[in-house]
Amino acid sequence: MWSATSPDRNQRQTAYRILVAGTREQLEADQGDLWDSGVTRSSAMSVEYAGTALHSMQQCWWKARAWDAQGREGPWSEPASFEMALLSPSDWTAPWMGYPGAWPGKALYFRREFTLTRPIKRARVYMAGLGWSELHVNGRKVNDRVLDPPQSNYSKRVIYSTDAVESFLQPGKNVIGVICGNGWHACVRLLLQLHVEYEDGETAQLIPGDQPYHAWQVGTGPILENSVYDGEVYDARLEMPGWDEPGGRITSKSIMASVIDGPSGARVAASLEPIRVMKTLTAQTITQPQPGVYVFDMGRNLAGWARICVSGPRGSQVRLRYAESLYDDGDAAGTVNQENLIIAGAEDNYILKGEGEETWEPRFTYHGFRYVQVEGWPGEPAPDAVQARLVRSAVEPSGAFECSSDLLNRIYEMVHRTEESNLHSLPTDCPQRSERMGWLNDIAARAEGAVYNFDLARLYSKWIGDIADEQDPQTGAITDTAPFRWGKRPADPVSVCYLLVPWLLYTHYGDTHTLAERYTGMKAWVDYLTTRAEDGIVSYSSWGDWSPPIAFGIKGSDGDSAVSRDTPAPLVSTACYAYSARLLAQIAGVLANEADRQAYAALADEIAERFNKRFWNKKLRGYGSGNQSCNAIAAYMGLVPPERCAQVLASLVENVTGPSHNHLTTGNICTKYLLEVLSAGGRADVALGVALQETYPSWGYMLANGATTLWERWEHATGKAMNSHNHPMMGSVAAWLYRVVAGIQVEPDGAVGLTSAQGPGFERFMVCPGVMDQLTHARAALKTVKGKIEVAWSTENGQFTLDLSVPVGSQARVVLPLPTGATLYEGEDVVWRDEKSVSLRAHRTGGPLELSVGSGAWHFRSH
Ligand code: BGC
Repeated sequence: MWSATSPDRNQRQTAYRILVAGTREQLEADQGDLWDSGVTRSSAMSVEYAGTALHSMQQCWWKARAWDAQGREGPWSEPASFEMALLSPSDWTAPWMGYPGAWPGKALYFRREFTLTRPIKRARVYMAGLGWSELHVNGRKVNDRVLDPPQSNYSKRVIYSTDAVESFLQPGKNVIGVICGNGWHACVRLLLQLHVEYEDGETAQLIPGDQPYHAWQVGTGPILENSVYDGEVYDARLEMPGWDEPGGRITSKSIMASVIDGPSGARVAASLEPIRVMKTLTAQTITQPQPGVYVFDMGRNLAGWARICVSGPRGSQVRLRYAESLYDDGDAAGTVNQENLIIAGAEDNYILKGEGEETWEPRFTYHGFRYVQVEGWPGEPAPDAVQARLVRSAVEPSGAFECSSDLLNRIYEMVHRTEESNLHSLPTDCPQRSERMGWLNDIAARAEGAVYNFDLARLYSKWIGDIADEQDPQTGAITDTAPFRWGKRPADPVSVCYLLVPWLLYTHYGDTHTLAERYTGMKAWVDYLTTRAEDGIVSYSSWGDWSPPIAFGIKGSDGDSAVSRDTPAPLVSTACYAYSARLLAQIAGVLANEADRQAYAALADEIAERFNKRFWNKKLRGYGSGNQSCNAIAAYMGLVPPERCAQVLASLVENVTGPSHNHLTTGNICTKYLLEVLSAGGRADVALGVALQETYPSWGYMLANGATTLWERWEHATGKAMNSHNHPMMGSVAAWLYRVVAGIQVEPDGAVGLTSAQGPGFERFMVCPGVMDQLTHARAALKTVKGKIEVAWSTENGQFTLDLSVPVGSQARVVLPLPTGATLYEGEDVVWRDEKSVSLRAHRTGGPLELSVGSGAWHFRSH
């Protein structure tokens, strides 16, 4: 994949040439010995390798050049390189190792010595240390990854990592050390190979070599307890200096490692961003609610852990307890409230060795918290003695949003923080309680905002694989969570994300690979739903439009009244069934599977017909109970026939502005659809009214009550129940801010929830500034595979302006709310005057003004 820049406007690629070479020298001499695409007429800026077959560990260098709209040849790109992973199961000769007796709770330390007799050019460690592990070579940690490798269903897929370690090795004796914690595997297993290439080009597999396990020692060390939920206990008195260096040893209990059963999953090279420490935060305030008990307030909720810097007597124990809230009153006032963590212990303990300043942070756990309560500290902690480490998958932020409403900006920031707290090699529901799972229902609402905010091309593609791993090969049923840890099989039909996320990968990143790779699975899921349909209606449901304001939940239902009372389960399930069939038809179209495209489009039409028969209520001029959710989901998913659209919109507007007093009554799924449907129907003002609320239930209400990340419930609750304070499922408003307020949209395709298959990866997109009375400006930026899109509109000083930046190769359809009679300029040039086009082929048929521009910077203003 490549992108291009140009000072010209309307610039695009008309042809490309790619060279892939086996050495850098060959590439520099313009020799593509592995692949020379030749000059290929195409606008594609991402292609699959089509050269000679590559082998395991092969290194390749590549570059690309493009020809522009005028046929001018561009310069070659800087050389880039990639390396192949271990491609064949037979590349794996090492056994899984461990210690069958196990030392319950403790992390295991593995150590192996080996000798290098000849100079080497290249050395690679391929490793899966389950659940989580840390690689050391000759006394140094090799990389900055944490909570590695990524979580998966290990019986289906084991994701291994690759490290270049040549710079860590030395002639003579060397040591590889690995610390392994329980992570999500709950029992420690290590798989490790070391491959080297000598300077003369000869290659060898030094580990396992001819001593698959005998040469490995395994033992315990200072990590006495480690658990994802409960935290870590570390006794620094048990540290073993030099354990990972030549001449050192594991000084506590240790024994020769054993060959041990390991998970049977296929070994797959990590292709997603690793988890890293992304930020370090210093407390905003420190209080002492009880003698010797200090509470560090990090100023915001986050996922990660604390790092401490402490000195004191040997054997003293510092206890760190994590929480999202504090007790307000009573004996415990000001101390951490861990009730909503359910059974997660959320506590780390450090026992000092008493040797001056000691800096420590846990390795094999993480917590969701704003507050860290410190007990047992020798003396009084300095303000920066306890810092928060923000930990997440190191995906790049891809978007930015800002507007004239401080409240919307703070809502945006709250959603962003919540999303970043819940990316840990999969999109989790929450980071704090004994859960942290990839719930499919939540992602249906959250995914679109997430792909505006972060580059999730690789993380989402991996997670779709997690869903596929859990799919029943016989029935096609998928599971509520992936990897499957909780919930049910079959998943609730609201799990449209199995189709929606690949579709977003396609529309946002131009990824057709995932569509093709997962097509059979997606189709099997839609076919499964068909087996559950009676007369086109799917009635089963577990969660539906989950977690509406509590008064709208069924009293006593799951999750403390979290099942919607007025949004019938069959209505939601059937709508999602139709939507899934519709998405599948679109996907089949992209994959040029015309038969399936027609068949599933016909299925979607048929379900829509049955849906209307069953759920249309003439008296209410709406669907189901006529509440916000029923109407919003029907419209969003394209189930409303044209002749009913106006009635449905009117019902929605009436409900919101009438009995709901500009508040929502929706749960995790339909909140998204409410804002989007109102806006697409021309009533973005009503949607904005909902978004700008500060009274219950609303995002503003969360902020007014001190939220820094989104709550799971619309209510402010901190007790022992489903009361997460860092839960992204209510964050769909972020997508609405980008799409409707700033106005960067993938081209629609009929219904609100359907987008066009044309011009994926923002090769074509729409810019439609959300000019509304209460706002005077909005801006957003989005890094796309083509380059950066920037939109900034303003109505300040009585003048409308729009600054727009379009990447090379993209085309933007600009839709402007220009009042009749107004003149539009681009720079100094007139575009539209006296209701006639002067340039840019602007046009309108009654509604807004439309025009289309290619790449470059554009400055529109109206007069
Ligand atoms: C999860 C939610 C999810 C729900 C579905 C909860 O435990 O935290 O995010 O939507 O279960 O039942």
